[in-house]
Amino acid sequence: MGSLDEINPASEMFQAQANLYKTIYGYLNGMVLKCAVELSIPDIIHNHAQPITIPKLASILQIHPTKTAYVDRMVHLLLHNGFLAKTKVGNEEAFTLTASSKLLLKGNEPCLAPMVTGFIATSMIEPFDMLDKWFKGEEKTVTETVFGVGWWDVLERDSGYMKAFNEAMASDSRMVNMALRKCEWAFEGLDSVVDVGGGTGTTARVIAEAYPDLECVVFDLPQVVQGLCGHKNLSFVGGSMFESIPSAHAVLLKWVCHNWDDESCIKILEKSREAISGKKGGKVMIIDAVINEEKDGHAMTEVKLLYDVLMLAVNGKERNEKQWETLLLAAGFKRHKITPFFGFRSIIEAFPY
Ligand SMILES: C[S@@+](CC[C@H](N)C(=O)[O-])C[C@H]1O[C@@H](n2cnc3c(N)ncnc32)[C@H](O)[C@@H]1O
Repeated sequence: MGSLDEINPASEMFQAQANLYKTIYGYLNGMVLKCAVELSIPDIIHNHAQPITIPKLASILQIHPTKTAYVDRMVHLLLHNGFLAKTKVGNEEAFTLTASSKLLLKGNEPCLAPMVTGFIATSMIEPFDMLDKWFKGEEKTVTETVFGVGWWDVLERDSGYMKAFNEAMASDSRMVNMALRKCEWAFEGLDSVVDVGGGTGTTARVIAEAYPDLECVVFDLPQVVQGLCGHKNLSFVGGSMFESIPSAHAVLLKWVCHNWDDESCIKILEKSREAISGKKGGKVMIIDAVINEEKDGHAMTEVKLLYDVLMLAVNGKERNEKQWETLLLAAGFKRHKITPFFGFRSIIEAFPY
């Protein structure tokens, strides 16, 4: 390396430093977004009759008077990250919501604010501070490395956090469900569907309502479906997908496979194939991400790769097309079709014939 005089400030080395620091401090993007949600900044801007100036926003926020001068720091990072847009009110700069921050409006549908508060949380973040320890140890999941128990037990121990986590999952589901309502092609010709790992039935309720001639069964662990009542074409069955799945024309696995390693996934898929074997034209429908770095843009791939690392918390993973194909062949399916769903997930239809 030459002397300081020889170093061009625009050189590759300084660009590299900027990239490095961007990643080092990247976690602050999430923290600032979480703070914005907790201070109801999107709601305040939404309820304001016109684009909001920083002094006006600061005057409405319920914060300590000594902190009003700091509001612009939050606003400018939110602006940079695409959560706010800048305009003018008179001569003053003012801010409006963007498509991303409109997803955070409480009481709106869809509202992903619970995803922000549920996933940017200590129990979720802490394990990833110990990834190196997990790599060196024998624990199956990064959650076990840190807490000594698996993810679902972590939730069991902390009912407050479990509630926040479940709300986050439900908010995401509601958004996916909006799209499912419009997927007539996927349910066409089917007389019954079993939503395996369907939780408390958020998705199945939507399907049952949208397709009244379709018999919908929610299948989940007995403790999850205990006490839940069906209605018209919707019913609940308790059991384990590793043992036996109620037979149906189609099996839906929405956001289930990515929670499991390949060996477990093959078992789930085999049981799913058995469940549809009695019906002509049966299929398994998987809703999950499909990593495709060549087709997807940079931002879309980043979401999928971040999820892939997040799944280390439960020994799961996100998969690319080849990995899905390998799993499905191993589970006895003859062919499959991947259709991009809305956003970063796809519907993978698997056929045993
Ligand atoms: C990530 S959640 C997905 C829930 C839902 N499909 C959705 O999209 O929101 C995984 C679900 O799998 C269920 N599950 C875990 N082990 C199971 C098993 N052995 N048999 C059936 N369901 C199981 C969990 O109770 C949970 O509801």
